[in-house]
Parts: sequence; structure tokens; C-alpha cells
Amino acid sequence: MRIISSFAAVCLLFGSTAMAAPVHYVLPEETAALASGPNSDIAQATCGACHSVDYITTQPTPQKDAKGFWTAEVTKMQKVFGAQVEPDNVPKIVDYLAATYTAK
Ligand code: HEC
Repeated sequence: MRIISSFAAVCLLFGSTAMAAPVHYVLPEETAALASGPNSDIAQATCGACHSVDYITTQPTPQKDAKGFWTAEVTKMQKVFGAQVEPDNVPKIVDYLAATYTAK
């Protein structure tokens, strides 16, 4: 009986802390943007949904085969992280990224 009542006391204790007031966060405005160009709007809308586009603009892209690199990135986003990308938009996004974010 004692075990049960001390268990109840612990539940009460933790239960009450779980009911503490919710914490509200005000996130800062997203400031990163993709360079404008053909289909940059599609890329911004599709690729900015989960994370900052800083992830894209700061990638060390290879000098050779930028298209292959970006194709692999977009495929990874879809297959590994579940990004929803319209099939028609995949080549548009890849072409835009390869043209814009390629090591010079
Ligand atoms: C469903 C959510 C989601 C969407 C949409 C998404 N990503 Fe990601 N992305 C992620 C996650 C999760 C990571 C890994 C974050 C980490 O490692 O901290 C990531 C990481 C990245 C990285 C860093 C390098 C790497 O491979 O981890 C790049 C570059 C990237 N994403 C590009 C893109 C591009 C381009 C698109 C648009 C086609 C896109 N992402 C759309 C979830 C997403």
C-alpha cells in the first residue's frame, strides 16, 4: 500500500509540472532567399519548406557535374526526408540549382 501511495505522490508531482504554462516562441523572420532566376520561385517554395535555404546556398558544390550533385540532393530530400516535390518540378529545380549554385 505504501508503495502505491508513494507512486501516486510521484505521479501527482510530475503531473503538476507537466501542466505548467506552455512556452511560446517567436521565431525570427526568415531572411535567406535563393538568388532570383528561372524557376527560383519553385525552388524557394519547395526547398524552403523545412529548412532555411542557407542549406542550399552554403553547399560546397562540385565544379564538375553540378547537375548530378543537385539531382542527388533533391532525391535525398524526397527519399530520406519525405520532401513533397511535384515530379514536373524536379528537373526545373535541378536545372535552376545547377545553373545558380555551382562552384566557379
Ligand atoms: C520534408 C522536409 C525537407 C524538404 C521539403 C527539403 N529538405 Fe533539405 N533537408 C531536410 C533535412 C531533414 C535535412 C538534414 C538537416 C540536418 O542534417 O540537420 C536537409 C538538408 C539539406 C541540405 C544539406 C546537405 C544534406 O544533404 O544534408 C541541402 C543542401 C538540402 N537539404 C537541400 C534541399 C533542396 C534542394 C530541397 C528542395 C528540393 C530541400 N532540401 C527540401 C529536409 C527537407
